[in-house]
Amino acid sequence: MKTAVFSARRYDQSLLGRANQQAGHELVFIQDRLTRETAALAAGCPAVCVFVNDVANADVLTQLQAQGTRLLATRSTGYNHVDAEAAARLGIEVVRVTDYSPYSVAEFAVGLLLAVNRKICRASARTRDGNFELDGLMGFDLHGKTVGVIGTGKIGSIFARIMAGFGCTVLGYDRFPTPPFEALGGRYVPAEALLAQSDVVSLHCPLTPDTHHIVNAQSLASAKRGCILINTSRGGLVDTDAAIQALKTGHLGGLAIDVYEQEASLFFQDLSSTIITDDCIQRLVSFPNVIVTGHQAFLTEEAISQIMQTTLDSITAFERGEPLVNRIPRD
Ligand code: NAI
Repeated sequence: MKTAVFSARRYDQSLLGRANQQAGHELVFIQDRLTRETAALAAGCPAVCVFVNDVANADVLTQLQAQGTRLLATRSTGYNHVDAEAAARLGIEVVRVTDYSPYSVAEFAVGLLLAVNRKICRASARTRDGNFELDGLMGFDLHGKTVGVIGTGKIGSIFARIMAGFGCTVLGYDRFPTPPFEALGGRYVPAEALLAQSDVVSLHCPLTPDTHHIVNAQSLASAKRGCILINTSRGGLVDTDAAIQALKTGHLGGLAIDVYEQEASLFFQDLSSTIITDDCIQRLVSFPNVIVTGHQAFLTEEAISQIMQTTLDSITAFERGEPLVNRIPRD
């Protein structure tokens, strides 16, 4: 099936292309993001494949539908960038990748935690510069500390299990508590109690209207002083201005983010020779106790090959009129 693949980075083109040798779809790789301006590039493609920072709002979906698109396949778990209601109204099926190595993201979140707590990036930058000083590199033992997990689904529960292995007390908050989380020693508490008691808080819930800015000035004020916040889920979960204020006062002891609310105009591109006009990201990266990575938590060989395979399988199923097992939930 002719498929326009937006936000197609080099690795997308080679891995999706390789996985497609068997499936045999006609893939049209487009490096640009899907936006109102670029939607025309998908003219005549019954399927459109997107990634997390592509814009699939009502406007864009209307244009795609008018051009003949009937399937939107996102190469991600989260689908907050897709207007699901508009898609349903326009008769566009939307599929995602529900299952791909959740270890990729959970392990990356642990890596961010260790890096920010033990100042590993700072230390590495120093030694490259011939500076072997230890001042300013003090962290704390994770053993014996309390770690709060917001969203105890696939990724959150693996993160929780790893933290339990470090000897941490693990608290969880989820709209739908699940027995496996408690079986690994986690304890569900209300969100307020989780924030008040946790030395580390890691976000693993999807971005929805309910969770938008779930971390805000008020929740940060009720967090334990010196707490470290990890966000590998979606940027919109955190009110960045509030986080910056809490970092300035020292109430927030550290922040490590793989996602950022305004990431669409920054991430997945090399801007090192341009003037970055986003003052929030510039302020964030100026803190010694902040680590920012560019939405790479999913980037492992295992996860990527599953993402590519599932995406192609969904396109094949759609073409053959078979059930779409990875269709996004409909309310
Ligand atoms: P999942 O669906 O298995 O788990 C999400 C959990 O969040 C569920 O247990 C759900 O009940 C809970 N939840 C939903 N609404 C909530 C609310 N209002 N308050 C508290 N909990 C709530 O999803 P999975 O696979 O664990 O992924 C989690 C998120 O990780 C995705 O939604 C996505 O945003 C993010 N992600 C980030 C990646 C990256 O590369 N940085 C890659 C893959 C996913």
